[in-house]
Amino acid sequence: MGRLALTGGSAVRTRPFPSWPVSDEREVEAVTQVVRSGKWWYGEKVREFEAAFAAFQGATFGVSATSGTTALEIALLACGVGAGDEVIVPPYTFMATASAVLRVNGVPVFADIDLATSNLDPSDVEQRITDRTKAIIPVHFGGLPVDMDAFSALASRHGLRIIEDACHSWGSQWRGKGTGALGDCGVFSFQMSKNITSGEGGIMLTDNEELADQARGFSNCGRSKTGGWYEHFLLGSNLRMTELQAALLLVQLSRLEEQTERRQANARLLNRRLAAIPGIALIDWDDPRVTRRSYHIYAFRFLRDQWGGVTRDRFLEALNAEGIPSSAGYPIPLYKNPLFQRQADGPAGCPVSCPYYQGHVDYTQAVCPNAETLCEEACWIFHQILLGDASDMDDIAGAIEKVWEHRSELAQAF
Ligand SMILES: Cc1ncc(COP(=O)(O)O)c(C=O)c1O
Repeated sequence: MGRLALTGGSAVRTRPFPSWPVSDEREVEAVTQVVRSGKWWYGEKVREFEAAFAAFQGATFGVSATSGTTALEIALLACGVGAGDEVIVPPYTFMATASAVLRVNGVPVFADIDLATSNLDPSDVEQRITDRTKAIIPVHFGGLPVDMDAFSALASRHGLRIIEDACHSWGSQWRGKGTGALGDCGVFSFQMSKNITSGEGGIMLTDNEELADQARGFSNCGRSKTGGWYEHFLLGSNLRMTELQAALLLVQLSRLEEQTERRQANARLLNRRLAAIPGIALIDWDDPRVTRRSYHIYAFRFLRDQWGGVTRDRFLEALNAEGIPSSAGYPIPLYKNPLFQRQADGPAGCPVSCPYYQGHVDYTQAVCPNAETLCEEACWIFHQILLGDASDMDDIAGAIEKVWEHRSELAQAF
């Protein structure tokens, strides 16, 4: 019998960690009020939430949508991305970052990430810019802001739009301003795993009134703010949020600041302990320009060479057995998904091989070495675990230290 829980020893922790979503009577009351009011549809509460969330992130306008995915689509449409346009995206992200580009007939072009931050690498992005590039979608992965100084400089040098995928970064700030309010526009998700949630939902933020009006039109059946109810100006869709969702989100928003600060303080405790383990590399950025960071995912790298034959997946198995919920995250870079391997083909090969597209992409030849490494090395701990107290962080760090100390036992056991 070994010392590790996986080899028959006792686990560091048997108590559960905080669960998600967090809710109390305030959510019940807010939803009940909407139900009783008989006004369930895209009205006052939606407007109130759009304004409140935009203000929270420091943007002027908020346009809600049914999801982060559809918010990305209206952002791209508002920015004028369409057939033949290339949009640079990271491969280490959720599929929507790239599939939204295809949905508007644009062509996603993958650039590599920086392993130190897991975010898009501005210098790799610059090498992929062509005269067909229209926009960049940097993802603030896990909640860590990208280097917005570098991306803003790139965008102005090349005349590009920046659409921030802020679907992990509610509450994050770069130089004191919220993510999603830094580029031309930014997009958030309120799906149930997210740090503020209504089950599903999304929003686009911007300081640009014209972009906000366009996005509103695309999300509301192509209507315009001055036209009549049955007048349709754009090829829009119905991506409207309901009053029930907005009522929930307003309550969720009231907890966001405190929860963000708590996760950040706990992540700092973990960082201090894990930095001392040679088999682990932190994915964080000790940069004074990151004035606040949301943690949707606390991620670190498993440095395989240091572990004497233990694999990342075995390490995670051992960590879970110690009572610490953790996972490997994205298994492959986006371009390795079947959708891209068969060249993202729509009817007649659109949009990657059709007469509107003058370039050439071959996703079967795509290589982003850092993203591939991160898919093999990343370990994720989800945000709700960081809502605990300092003794919970002790358990997490203690369990990782224990697996590290007994790595040879783990290597020999399998
Ligand atoms: C980085 C990123 N972008 C976009 C999305 C899409 O958001 P939704 O699930 O609300 O459509 C997600 C959701 O997981 C995400 O993680």
